[in-house]
Amino acid sequence: MDIGSKQGPVTAVPGAPLARSALRSVAWDSASFTGRDQAYLEWAAEVRALAAERDALILAHNYQLPAVQDVAHHVGDSLALSRIAATAPQSTIVFCGVHFMAETAKILAPEKTVLIPDAAAGCSLADSLTADQLRDWKSQHPGAIVVSYVNTTAEVKAETDICCTSSNAVDVVASIPADREVLFGPDQFLGAHVRRTLGRDNMHVWGGECHVHAGINGRQLAAVAAQSPEAELFIHPECGCATSAIYLAGSGVVDADRVKILSTGDMVVQARRTRAREVLVATEIGMLHQLRRAAPDIEFRAVNERASCPYMKMITPVKVVTALRERRDEVTVDPDVAARARGAVEAMIAIGRPAGGE
Ligand code: 13P
Ligand code: SF4
Repeated sequence: MDIGSKQGPVTAVPGAPLARSALRSVAWDSASFTGRDQAYLEWAAEVRALAAERDALILAHNYQLPAVQDVAHHVGDSLALSRIAATAPQSTIVFCGVHFMAETAKILAPEKTVLIPDAAAGCSLADSLTADQLRDWKSQHPGAIVVSYVNTTAEVKAETDICCTSSNAVDVVASIPADREVLFGPDQFLGAHVRRTLGRDNMHVWGGECHVHAGINGRQLAAVAAQSPEAELFIHPECGCATSAIYLAGSGVVDADRVKILSTGDMVVQARRTRAREVLVATEIGMLHQLRRAAPDIEFRAVNERASCPYMKMITPVKVVTALRERRDEVTVDPDVAARARGAVEAMIAIGRPAGGE
């Protein structure tokens, strides 16, 4: 199915005064606030009731806090969530993710109200390429096709020919005629993965990175892989260790079949398919929640347990309630910028296979 994991209804607590939960904010920000806990159930029932009242669809990225993932109508990777936002019948989207994701939803669905529970939830990778820098880079390579990762501002997307996410980056670049020069930005590790996969020499890659994924390095990967010789390795292509993983496989240190370079949505798909009993996961640690839900019998371990995105974790349970109650923070994109960015984003959601659906 062309969607991220579709969540079932949240069961209301009979007789629970819905507004009461808003007063108990402290524990809500913890990763352990989820599941069968009474406070969680009250909060979740309140969120779903407000969403129904406001005709709102709640989308959550795989890196969100477990409670936020559990209350969302859909959880998924960047591509799956963009596709859902584009076609959802609801008039309001509450995007539990980072700002560029909510902006992408607004570009695709300008008639909808798009809310993000904290507009300050940014992205270090999106910050690593500005529209001015991209214009300058383009002027040095006239005629090149510009491919931008979805982790970019709307202004950068407006300067782009086609956007991509980690789940369709290879397909997007493969769709460009082999004789055309390509400018790929901003992520250097994803760019290296695409160039290596396609063996494409006429592809220039910007030197940006995500500080969370860059911090998952080859040394850490080699150490945990050596401790667990039977484990499969799920590696997000934004990781600093992605190149090391290929090297470890190529040099026979780990079996090449064990190394999977995957978007977050594809990790969920592979978790359901694999026969491995143990999986080492190189990406942001919020991912472990969906993986454990998808395959409860597998032991999933983070390659770097400190790889937590501070921007993703700005979306707290308290702020989700406030977003719905007070209809904020509303995400706006300048209509001219949105019009120039839309073609590149629509091309992105048209390419590649769906991932992470159930
Ligand atoms: P995907 O969910 O598309 O794999 O992206 C990961 C990411 O870092 C989003 O910020
Ligand atoms: Fe941006 Fe990295 Fe956080 Fe993803 S994990 S939102 S790329 S800073």
